[in-house]
Amino acid sequence: MSVTPDLEHIIDQARTAFASATRPADLENEKAKFLGKDGVLTAELKALGKLPIEEKKTRGAQVNAVRVQVEQLLNEARQALADAELNARLSTEKLDVTLPGRGLNRGGVHPVTRVTRRVEAIFRSMGFDVADGPEIENDWYNFTSLNSPMNHPARSMQDTFYVADKDERGNPLVLRTHTSPMQVRYARTQVAKMNAGTLKKGSPIKVIAPGRTYRVDSDATHSPMFHQVEGLWIAEAVSFADLKAVYTAFLQKFFETTDLQTRFRPSYFPFTEPSVEIDMAFGSGPNAGKWLEISGAGQVHPTVIRNFGLDPEEYMGFAFGSGLERLAMLRYGVNDLRLFFENDLRFLGQFK
Ligand code: PHE
Repeated sequence: MSVTPDLEHIIDQARTAFASATRPADLENEKAKFLGKDGVLTAELKALGKLPIEEKKTRGAQVNAVRVQVEQLLNEARQALADAELNARLSTEKLDVTLPGRGLNRGGVHPVTRVTRRVEAIFRSMGFDVADGPEIENDWYNFTSLNSPMNHPARSMQDTFYVADKDERGNPLVLRTHTSPMQVRYARTQVAKMNAGTLKKGSPIKVIAPGRTYRVDSDATHSPMFHQVEGLWIAEAVSFADLKAVYTAFLQKFFETTDLQTRFRPSYFPFTEPSVEIDMAFGSGPNAGKWLEISGAGQVHPTVIRNFGLDPEEYMGFAFGSGLERLAMLRYGVNDLRLFFENDLRFLGQFK
């Protein structure tokens, strides 16, 4: 519909006004100037009332057509602003889905922990229980009960960290120098169960106890903190033959080869008699034919059996204490013990 020039002018004004609005709020203000209560078009509509009937009809239709056009311009302007806003957001919040992922840095189990778990699984499969005990130990369990009384020269075999506090009975406390106190702790718990009737009298005592141990010692093969695994098998007739069989079977499973030999070399520990060092030699591989010291062991001393609460005339057996870092070094071909404790991720990352 063609409209009079004054009405045409309103459309032009609206077009420029709407186009100049850069924010939705500005646009709504401009809208009010045309379509609002005091807007130009509202005034035109009001003015119609004063016109003669014929003129009212044509002018009315024209004003209405202009209103429709202005509303259309308004909607176009609204859409343009919304599009512009969306485009601005899209360009700032741009997401490049073709970028390579950052990757998840996966942790791993420490090699000594891995070896400990492996040792536990093997001994469990041979019927051994797995026990855990305190690292701050009293003097009685660490030394006295193991046949190293106060002032016995054998105590100096292990340079000890003494703790300033004493236990509730006034016993000196130490950072345990070996896992051997667990022999006594575990055996006494089992004997207490036998005495209470919750465990059959005469049940074999068969346990390993892995854990941290401490000595004042530090070089390429010694660390002030290291790990041992204690083994103990006490029954009516457990002999050195059993020790050799069990320990050899363990080593074969641990190193996944039957091509290895073990030998017992005489040694001394206050809590075993006789005492040995267990040596092993691989039949092949980089260490082939070389005897490697792998564990202390022996037949549990009668005094220690007595401290278990058992009669050494009725019970006998063996104990061993092996260094877990030593086993880890041989299994993984690591030549410096300190690598296990420096926490260098380049080293540890190789065991994931
Ligand atoms: N406790 C001894 C050590 O740390 C090892 C050992 C354990 C020896 C059991 C004999 C029997 O050197």
